[in-house]
Amino acid sequence: MLDKLAEITAQLPGMLEQAEIWKSLNIDYHPPVVERLYTQVGDLRVSLHCIHPCQSSEALFHPHPWPSAVLILNGGYEMGMAYGKGLVVPPCPGKLILGAGSRYEMTDPDGWHYVRPLAEPSYSVMISGKPWDREMPASPEHPLKPLSDERIAELLAQFKKLLKGINHGG
Ligand SMILES: [Fe+2]
Repeated sequence: MLDKLAEITAQLPGMLEQAEIWKSLNIDYHPPVVERLYTQVGDLRVSLHCIHPCQSSEALFHPHPWPSAVLILNGGYEMGMAYGKGLVVPPCPGKLILGAGSRYEMTDPDGWHYVRPLAEPSYSVMISGKPWDREMPASPEHPLKPLSDERIAELLAQFKKLLKGINHGG
């Protein structure tokens, strides 16, 4: 997935010029709040995330229903990773502090993680592949709404700026 992430990252500057290809969601059913812009490229879903800080006890520990890879563009975060089958949150053996330029992939259906931005919102790019047949913890009944057009434009502008920094070794 990290190779695919590099390919998508190289295509992103062009994709960010096309506001019409991006859909959005404000994912606010559980901390941390995540503002997501997303689009589809072949089999891959490409998501741009602005993740907001939250208390450490609150960050949602979760598995993913698909393989994924993430590039952090700025405002790093604390991440716990663990491994566990089924729906019971596994014990977390430790945590990492990740910053701009950090990349990771999660390629096993039983990998879990949580992320928690520390002081400021964190911007990252995530790709995700075809769904696995994994049982997933139920999320609460909470319909998610799209972001406003104004906020979408702001986020696209922010990602353009951050991507230039990463592509130029910043
Ligand atoms: Fe996640």
